[in-house]
Amino acid sequence: MLTSQRLQLSNFKSKGAAHWLGTKNLKFLLNSMTITNKSLYDPNFVRRLFDEMSQTYGLVNLVASFGFAWLWRKQCVRAIDIEPNATVLDLMTGMGELCPDLLRRMGKGGRLLALDISTPMCQQASQHTINSGETDFVVVEANALQCPLEDESVDNVFSTFGLKTFNDQQLAQLAVQVNRVLRPGGQFAFLEISVPKSPILRWPYYFYINFVVPQVGKLMLGNPNNYRLLGVYTEAFANCDRTVEHFNAVNLETNPTTTYFFGCATGFTGRKPTMPEAIGNA
Ligand SMILES: C[S@@+](CC[C@H](N)C(=O)[O-])C[C@H]1O[C@@H](n2cnc3c(N)ncnc32)[C@H](O)[C@@H]1O
Repeated sequence: MLTSQRLQLSNFKSKGAAHWLGTKNLKFLLNSMTITNKSLYDPNFVRRLFDEMSQTYGLVNLVASFGFAWLWRKQCVRAIDIEPNATVLDLMTGMGELCPDLLRRMGKGGRLLALDISTPMCQQASQHTINSGETDFVVVEANALQCPLEDESVDNVFSTFGLKTFNDQQLAQLAVQVNRVLRPGGQFAFLEISVPKSPILRWPYYFYINFVVPQVGKLMLGNPNNYRLLGVYTEAFANCDRTVEHFNAVNLETNPTTTYFFGCATGFTGRKPTMPEAIGNA
């Protein structure tokens, strides 16, 4: 993999490529090629990336998605039932973008756990304590792949825009953790930005995530290279299909995947069965 990346690198060292890509994009490309697949998905690398983005992520996400991210989060929160006094887990909570809607839906009582690996993101998420009223609101700074919560201690798991920075093996680990912390009968809802399947939409979309989003990031005083990396993760993630397969592999039941705005985001819901799946028929 690394060898082929280095080989490709020499192709871009031509003047023609520099002209075509623009010097800044070319520089980024050359730098990103020294990032191996392994380090791209190293939780410490991802944590540092979001540590750095914590000041600008909220605004860039809102503006660059033309408000769609805001709308999709609301749809995700409404996608499954939340029982009174439930314990709800928001995985990869970021700045707690989902928390106001979750708190509103939970009403009085219950417990909302907002988990993220990045300290500055967790600090920003803590601000939602102000609106938590009678709901117990706890920010958990942890790696979701080594989730510190007890077995079957959670009624609902939600997560928006937190899947793309996991590789295939990590998505499998995530499925194991969700299955472990959910109580039998507990429900989950996940949503992630995705690459449209239609080739007509795919190329404008690549242009948008690789060129437009980094420029919006820069305008909002963020580091455009960080936002370019989000494009790299999104292209590799593609859509929620593989995640659903991993969830099914640990016997979590999933409903058909939902497609948002021509495939620019995908999401899925499901539940943990109340009875362990029967092995063969009697
Ligand atoms: C794109 S943000 C999504 C934030 C928020 N949920 C939203 O709706 O915008 C992804 C978040 O996932 C967090 N994250 C990435 N890998 C993680 C891991 N292994 N464990 C916990 N959080 C992680 C990052 O720190 C970041 O805050």
